[in-house]
Amino acid sequence: MHFTVKTDALTEITAECAIVGIYEGSELGKAAKDFDAKSKGALKDAMKETGFKGKQGQMQLVLKVPNVAPTRVLLVGLGKRNQLDDIKLARASQATAKYLRDTAIKSAVYTLHTEASDTTRGARDGVAALHYGFYKFEECRGKQYKKETPALKKILVAADKKDATAIRKAVKEGDAIGIGVKFTRDLGNLPGNYCTPSYLATEAKKMGRAYENLKVSVLDEKKMKELGMGSLLSVSKGSREPAKLIIFEYKGGKKNEAPHAIVGKGLTFDAGGISLKPGPGMDEMKYDMCGGASVFGTIKSLCEMGAKKNVIGVVPASENLPDGDANKPGDIVTSMSGQTIEILNTDAEGRLILCDALTYTERFKPASVIDIATLTGACVVALGSHATGLLGNDDGVINSLKTAADKSGDRVWQLPLWEEYDRQLDSPFADMQNIGGKEAGTITAGCFLARFTKKFKWAHLDVAGTAWNSGSSEKTATGRPVPLLVRYLLDA
Ligand code: BES
Ligand code: MN
Ligand code: ZN
Repeated sequence: MHFTVKTDALTEITAECAIVGIYEGSELGKAAKDFDAKSKGALKDAMKETGFKGKQGQMQLVLKVPNVAPTRVLLVGLGKRNQLDDIKLARASQATAKYLRDTAIKSAVYTLHTEASDTTRGARDGVAALHYGFYKFEECRGKQYKKETPALKKILVAADKKDATAIRKAVKEGDAIGIGVKFTRDLGNLPGNYCTPSYLATEAKKMGRAYENLKVSVLDEKKMKELGMGSLLSVSKGSREPAKLIIFEYKGGKKNEAPHAIVGKGLTFDAGGISLKPGPGMDEMKYDMCGGASVFGTIKSLCEMGAKKNVIGVVPASENLPDGDANKPGDIVTSMSGQTIEILNTDAEGRLILCDALTYTERFKPASVIDIATLTGACVVALGSHATGLLGNDDGVINSLKTAADKSGDRVWQLPLWEEYDRQLDSPFADMQNIGGKEAGTITAGCFLARFTKKFKWAHLDVAGTAWNSGSSEKTATGRPVPLLVRYLLDA
């Protein structure tokens, strides 16, 4: 999909279709009013005939609208006017793209952002949401499967002349976020036999070739051994796929400006190891690399928009499988930091690969470090799929992430990191154990990581509930928290 900003009068923009918002109670939004007036009431007539009320998610295509350039007008229900917020507006745009994908319409004028309280934000979120709704995962279909190539190619975003510059910038950002989210979703949706640590490494290298400001390096197990990454390597030795440590260096900012770092868990399949997970739903553990995939997507977004920032991305990639050589409960390993870890549960492997990746990140002298991980089932219990869990050691970073969440609609909720929780990790045999017992699983996982992040300002995002939609029919990677990370990094 290609986006352009147009400053002509709405009803005069050349396109096959116009997308306009209608509030519950058949109340016309701004753009809808223009179209209705020009066409002498064609929209109101159509609403009467079809019973369209403007409920959130309702959609009605009106054909042969007279006296306007786009003769098809898509009515999009926005729900009650006083209840409309940025997130509901973005959802309406998602639904719009999903609807248009199955039509023969090739070009459309987009106006829903004119209903936002901040039209610039509306345009950015709207464009990213159109990408989202347009998405379909078809990579693993067989020869006989017919991929439908959607007709829709061009979106013309309407803007007043005076806002054109701001809207253009917003559209560019929204487009780049949409592209990054799509990449993250593709990587997440790929099954474990396609998306291995080596596959991720190859994809990263491709990015390094595609973008000028991006340097990519990959460390193999030999190099990791030299660095003393005993914790990370203890997880990968139970699998036949070698681990990879993928490093992105995006240099869009000033030369001596300290970079911000994002570190994502890239566990390409989590069977639990010797502490094997139960069978039902285990397929969903292919998504256990979504934190890492969000690093890929965020870096891609920054590259696409040419962001003027320095950003480091680090992705430890491994499988977690049961094997004769796998970690056993009670095993003690030595991390790169020198601290030893008693592995009481081999299924708490995310923190084992992240701790060494976090120690490695010290060398970049980062201004801040955010790690992103599908780390605990407990986070899904606590926050469900609506908010990402947020913990950290620095109020400035935490508050910036909360602000970025408000601005992007990619929501977070903070949990505490008090030392009482940290004591749950004390071990009689090693410097720490890798689990903290039944209580407060998300927090004790955060406390574990906190023991490896003392040298920088750090926050942890637990995306176990937000990185994918569970269940059979709507099962998909969501691309979260790419919108949050991009916002955080652009504003940092
Ligand atoms: N990848 C899982 C966390 C997870 C579980 C994400 C369910 C999404 C849905 C992680 O590696 C894990 O297994 N965590 C354990 C930790 C426990 C052993 C302390 C968990 O949450 O059960
Ligand atoms: Mn696990
Ligand atoms: Zn895991």
